[in-house]
Amino acid sequence: MELPYAAPYKIKMVESIKRSTQQEREKWIKKAHYNLFNLSSDKVFIDLLTDSGTGAMSDKQWAAMMSGDESYAGSTSFLQLKKVVKKITGYPYFLPTHQGRAAENVLFSVMVKKGNIVPGNSHFDTTKGHIEFRKASALDCSIDEAFDTVIDYPFKGNIDLNKLKMVFDENPREKIPFVVLTITCNTSGGQPVSMKNIKEVSKLCRSYNIPLIFDAARFAENAYFIKIREKGYQEKSIKEIARELFSYGDGMTMSAKKDGLVNMGGFIALNNEEIYKQATVFNIMYEGFITYGGMNGRDMAALAVGLDEATEFDYLESRIEQVSYLGKKLTGYGVPVLQPFGGHAIFIDANKFVPTIPRDEYRAQALAIELYIIGGIRGVEIGTVLADRDPFTRKNRYPELELVRLAIPRRTYSLNHMDYIAAVLKNIYDTRDQAKSGYKIIDEAPIMRHFTVKFAKN
Ligand code: F0G
Repeated sequence: MELPYAAPYKIKMVESIKRSTQQEREKWIKKAHYNLFNLSSDKVFIDLLTDSGTGAMSDKQWAAMMSGDESYAGSTSFLQLKKVVKKITGYPYFLPTHQGRAAENVLFSVMVKKGNIVPGNSHFDTTKGHIEFRKASALDCSIDEAFDTVIDYPFKGNIDLNKLKMVFDENPREKIPFVVLTITCNTSGGQPVSMKNIKEVSKLCRSYNIPLIFDAARFAENAYFIKIREKGYQEKSIKEIARELFSYGDGMTMSAKKDGLVNMGGFIALNNEEIYKQATVFNIMYEGFITYGGMNGRDMAALAVGLDEATEFDYLESRIEQVSYLGKKLTGYGVPVLQPFGGHAIFIDANKFVPTIPRDEYRAQALAIELYIIGGIRGVEIGTVLADRDPFTRKNRYPELELVRLAIPRRTYSLNHMDYIAAVLKNIYDTRDQAKSGYKIIDEAPIMRHFTVKFAKN
């Protein structure tokens, strides 16, 4: 008999999660104005809102916390972390920050100027935000396959080299401060970038003398996909793959809340001393002194261990196979999900799931609410609510895709939680024809409305 997959860890500490009844959840979500962000976490049974900062630390990370050095300057925890970052990325210059967007804020304060263009592969919201805030623009050069939800392409996070070259050719060099490559690409569904593509993008950037910066929040998951999907990498370790991948770039911003396996933290790592020097000024202004930059000593100590653990094959296999287990269960039940499955999340295609709900009644939001009411599961809408209104016409922007993201926290839930999630979705799917109406917005903020928007039933 073939042996089933078993995770390479056992449980040392447990955290209770609260069950509730459907009646209770109906009351709570109504009181929360049908916005899942308004629910307190004790009203959620399985929380798939994000995989950011929600993972479980290991015994070794907790042990490292106890020996964290809280010195303002020259903390040994900082030196320890710097050493691990150098080992994994090869980058000698390192600045801690309190999270990923803070790393973007500091680095972009140095590199992005008004009128600049920053090409990339579907920039993450905060990356785009920090570019646009500086009156520059983020230009998406993703391959066309990235936007096809069913095509089975192994590296949908890739950049289209022709699109990128065109941007380089059509603009003066000084207008393009760098290219940002997000690995894996969250916006296109946690999809990886191939080593081949990274190499080619790097070559093109170098021929135009344009730096390549990684948004490396999920770099270890990306390295895992390279190992299992790309020819020539099967025999390489994750750490070797990561080291090679980073060698093609000039630096990175990191949200350590993902592949750092910590609850809070981030950093910048660079090859270039001059950019580093300039960034230290902004780091001191916005984050803290250069040897802690917004992080506790104990958090830097835990991150040093976390980065090492996150780049081990056994851990990554259990992590990504768990996400894929859920994806396979769902496709087995006929539930339409984005394919191939992402590294950190499964995305449900609400356009196919509930086409009976009109688009102007926020069908993906309606599905996310139903998932909460029926099963106590909190996902997040990535559709019309998130896409917000056109700043000029104030009309809703209808994106091509209406998705519900189920982001899986690292080392937190078990496979039987995945079975539970899939069963809840199957039951909703079986009664989907009855879903005729969605929700209307009764109150919203002028921008970033999804966090605080209030809905009523239609
Ligand atoms: N880059 C990527 C690719 C991300 O996914 C995120 C955060 C950030 C940067 C910003 O990092 O949160 O530490 O400031 N993504 C979270 C998510 C919020 O739910 O996908 P941060």
